Amino acid sequence: EKITISVIKADIGGWPGHSRVHPQLIETAEEALAKAKEEGTIIDFYVAYAGDDLQLIMTHKKGVDSPDVHGMAWKAFEEATKVAKELGLYGAGQDLLKDAFSGNIRGMGPGIAEMEITLRKSEPIVTFHMDKTEPGAFNLPIFRMFADPFNTAGLVIDPSMHIGFRFEVWDILKHKRVILNTPEEVYDLLALIGAKSRYVIKRVFPKEGHKISKDEPVAVISTEKLYEIAGEYVGKDDPVAIVRAQSGLPALGEVLEPFAFPHLVSGWMRGSHNGPIMPVPMHYANPTRFDGPPRVVALGWQISPEGKLVGPVDLFDDPAFDYARQKALEITEYMRRHGPFEPHRLPLEDMEYTTLPGVLKKLEERFEDIE
Ligand code: F6R
Ligand code: MG
Repeated sequence: EKITISVIKADIGGWPGHSRVHPQLIETAEEALAKAKEEGTIIDFYVAYAGDDLQLIMTHKKGVDSPDVHGMAWKAFEEATKVAKELGLYGAGQDLLKDAFSGNIRGMGPGIAEMEITLRKSEPIVTFHMDKTEPGAFNLPIFRMFADPFNTAGLVIDPSMHIGFRFEVWDILKHKRVILNTPEEVYDLLALIGAKSRYVIKRVFPKEGHKISKDEPVAVISTEKLYEIAGEYVGKDDPVAIVRAQSGLPALGEVLEPFAFPHLVSGWMRGSHNGPIMPVPMHYANPTRFDGPPRVVALGWQISPEGKLVGPVDLFDDPAFDYARQKALEITEYMRRHGPFEPHRLPLEDMEYTTLPGVLKKLEERFEDIE
């Protein structure tokens, strides 16, 4: 029997500004989810936050894209939005882009990562929650987990991983996808996903011959693009991911290892700057300096045979990641010194939804030909 793990998140109000989720929003969402659990819509849940994003982590038996589960999550966000409005929180309801729920939460504002899986004898998973960045921020770490032997020793020395994995990559602009096999197509894969604002890893699957069926994802990343949905820029998507670990998959430590390097991602202040992503425990998931730097939280779980969420373990709450945090601070300082200059500020193509087109328009007739 299959269990579905759903992480559905939305920014429905910040406290203060865009920095973090108010505890009353968490309580409100917890009440809504407790009710859904009682009614049998979901098996189990946990409500977390990362920066200004409220995170619903749920298990159930209704499969991906379930109208019941999505509808219930939408209602939980709506109820929490009411509280956000009462408290006068900043940007209350900002990610609820539609007025009424119509069967599926995709394209309505919230971000979703879901996978339906056959539970193994023991099922360790990690949910990742990022704030102040975009889905492409997962390209580098997911690649390293499942395709880079310098990160994941198991690719070389575990016979069941040695065959490699399959990566489903989405072209965000053209709404197309392609599946690439590693290790044989590693260079092609990197040619795409290095362009992280255009090509994003959506899912990773095992290959034929792995003990997990080749059709069951072992990693999934949320890829909703808010600005495409809303027709105008309303902030970055602050992505989430679910990754399965151990026993023929990257070990827990191999899943976390990519974050020992605080790589540059885009987002940060006004969704318009490059900066390092800092791995933090939940109590540090409150971006403050220049609305950042971008953060990533990792929560560890075991899924019980009945589908209960046994956890969370706040995985970056470990001095082993102090160095990465220190490095992220050094890079933060270095990048900040560039002020409004690229490559701290994003290049023009990524600034489409800001004041820049207006500035250019204003100066249009003052531009003259160069002899
Ligand atoms: C970035 C983010 C913040 C806001 C910034 C300006 O993802 O959420 O950096 O862009 O605080 O916000 P407004 O325009 O709402 O004042
Ligand atoms: Mg956010």
